[in-house]
Amino acid sequence: MEAARVMVKLMADFDVERIRRDFPALAQKVRGHGLVYLDNAATTQKPKPVIDTLVEFYTTHNANIHRGVHALSERSTQAYEEARKKIQRFINAESHEEIVFVRGTTEGINLVAHSFGRPRIHKGDEIVVSAMEHHSNIVPWQILRDETGANLKVIPVSDEGELDLAAYERLLTERTRLVSVVYVSNSIGTVNPMSLIIQKAHARGIPVLVDGAQAVSHLMVDVQALDCDFFAFSGHKLFGPTGVGVLYAKKAHLAAMPPYQGGGDMISSVTFEKTRYNTLPYKFEAGTPHISGGIGLGSAVDYLERAGMEKIAAYESELLDYATEALGRVEDLRIIGTSRHKASIVSFVLGDIHAHDVGTILDRYGVAVRTGHHCTMPLMERFGVAATVRASFAFYNTRRDVDSLVEALNQVRKVFR
Ligand code: ALA
Repeated sequence: MEAARVMVKLMADFDVERIRRDFPALAQKVRGHGLVYLDNAATTQKPKPVIDTLVEFYTTHNANIHRGVHALSERSTQAYEEARKKIQRFINAESHEEIVFVRGTTEGINLVAHSFGRPRIHKGDEIVVSAMEHHSNIVPWQILRDETGANLKVIPVSDEGELDLAAYERLLTERTRLVSVVYVSNSIGTVNPMSLIIQKAHARGIPVLVDGAQAVSHLMVDVQALDCDFFAFSGHKLFGPTGVGVLYAKKAHLAAMPPYQGGGDMISSVTFEKTRYNTLPYKFEAGTPHISGGIGLGSAVDYLERAGMEKIAAYESELLDYATEALGRVEDLRIIGTSRHKASIVSFVLGDIHAHDVGTILDRYGVAVRTGHHCTMPLMERFGVAATVRASFAFYNTRRDVDSLVEALNQVRKVFR
């Protein structure tokens, strides 16, 4: 009862029409129809404050960071380091030293595979992933497996699209060196019980990497409460720029790990005999970084904090219920992934019409969705489908968007009747 009252209060405070006005891209027409943007799991649109931050950076402050003594370099360095602290606060990391700027989730996972995995994982050791991983949380471990002779163990997924936790526990052995699991499935939306997964691994002294690419935009993430060892996410899925992302790692891990790449900014001194590495997190940030990207991501985090992640989560949960019900009424439509714990992502097939055909016709009505395997081919195989249509919602989507999707799907059915 109390939870329901809190939900009603959060929803009452959430003015989606005002939020939509902050996202200029949403106001356009596509093929004569108002854009219905439902491809947020692939990338999100950017609010005006993020766009303004990027314009202001290049108009006024642009300089390289950590290098210059001149005013522009000092301003750019300060803005970049402030952004790091904003992100630290946003995910509740203990220290800004635990926030490594990377290109995105994929680079974050590859960094861990290289610098944490390679020195520790040997022949016969085991890495546990799940059957609902994105390819970027499979392939880096396969590369490591093939180099070292380690084994990859896979947590199975139920018909509802949930991880089999009993099977997970059975997979944990004295040879398990790392668990690497997605928090929110990009292709079917399942929210995995991350705290439990981490507790079970930690009970055996096994570190855990969380692929948080889809989690950060839908849930309140607290890396200290989760107690994860690593948490990777991308800026562009969090209403920030492309080409920048974050790897959170516990300081003790980062301190013990060798650098991922060599070059400028990750050193404190170089001679031909010996190089001393920079302090954390710079040891992992070789070369000129994506300066405007980091600053833009800081601005996106500011925007989300103003909107309120709790309100966003409550609003999206209601929208997901509405969408699930409305799509469930479309004839021949089958939703793939029916867990009770989902973020606002709905994957489906429509009779035997190919997902790409569905997507192409939806586009004629201005409805943007992703179609295909969503970089999760093993999960598609698990459900016996080659591809799905995926509608992924952000906090600027509305019930009107859901209705437009449903109307357009009914048009698709007419074409193929
Ligand atoms: N990983 C992104 C998606 O799910 C690109 O669409």
